[in-house]
Amino acid sequence: MKAEILIAGRMPPNVIEQLEEDFIVHDWNGAADPQALLAAVGPRIRGVATNAVQGVTPELLDALPNLEIIASSGIGTDALQLERVRAAGIKVAVTPDVLNDDVADMAIALMLAVARKICQGDRNVRAGRWLEGMGLGYRVSGKRLGILGLGRIGRVIARRAEAFDMEIGYHQRHRNLDVPYTYFDSLVELARFSDFLVVVVPGGPATEKMVNREVLEALGPEGILINVGRGSTVDEQALVAALQEGRIRGAGLDVFANEPHVPPELLAMDQVVLAPHYASATIETRLAMGQLVVDNLRAHFSGKPLLTPVE
Ligand code: NAP
Ligand code: 8YV
Repeated sequence: MKAEILIAGRMPPNVIEQLEEDFIVHDWNGAADPQALLAAVGPRIRGVATNAVQGVTPELLDALPNLEIIASSGIGTDALQLERVRAAGIKVAVTPDVLNDDVADMAIALMLAVARKICQGDRNVRAGRWLEGMGLGYRVSGKRLGILGLGRIGRVIARRAEAFDMEIGYHQRHRNLDVPYTYFDSLVELARFSDFLVVVVPGGPATEKMVNREVLEALGPEGILINVGRGSTVDEQALVAALQEGRIRGAGLDVFANEPHVPPELLAMDQVVLAPHYASATIETRLAMGQLVVDNLRAHFSGKPLLTPVE
């Protein structure tokens, strides 16, 4: 008999089609009355397919007493209620590595977009203003790049930055012995070193507001902050103040503390480039992420080990 699973976060259509081949699928995300759906099928649900942004809420877990596995499209676990889920013995699978290239590309794209004023220029040309108010941009090549979180994605960002002849430093809790980059045991010191500071650590309490006023002060008036990790890692009010007062030069942000809310002050700033949590959003990567969701659910329900479990 087919296991019943719930789709709790948006999935590409071909992922849903594949899930429907092997499972009885209930689409909570697209249901006209999600509460009625949960009341009707909740106790029969053994698997959840979701993504790193929508995750699972405590209320959803309350309605799924027989849940065995959560397969999430994404690598972040900050929306997956990990502590509770682990305590309940529910398995969790994520999608590491398949998104590294695209998230790294987005970090580089945001660096270039802010420093070379790509979006401001686009707005100017469309409005018939040409070079009006543009001033000059800032060089990226050969500058100093600080990476907060030299993990799977951080390392790919570093490799790309090498091609721009950048000098690379990083901060995290442990030093990586297999890289030629400079380790800073203090984030403030990394920020002081950096022309560009890229944030790519996980969200959650351990990194909350880690990029605070002191770090931004150390990044300094010629520094540019890029965030492709989680919005919660940056103190947004401190960032707004630093940008308003010219204490940093600019910012490129793919993620925000309270998505889709963006601090309104940022919307009017030409020195800021904003993206709607889009770093992994290419057709190729989303298909690969979705495939891992399918494959992990298939593995679990055929008694095999998960391909990419959360350790
Ligand atoms: P990863 O391989 O686990 O790397 C995370 C790095 O962060 C590790 O090197 C870790 O080093 C460091 N780190 C963790 N906690 C830290 C702390 N408290 N202080 C300082 N450094 C810390 O993860 P990944 O695959 O590169 O992904 C990183 C994050 O990017 C994800 O968790 C997710 O939130 C975000 N992400 C965003 C998007 C997007 O669409 N914008 C897409 C994918 C991922 P230590 O253990 O040595 O500290
Ligand atoms: C989201 C992400 O999963 O992997 C992560 O942690 O934040 C993203 O890849 C994705 O945008 C939601 O579908």
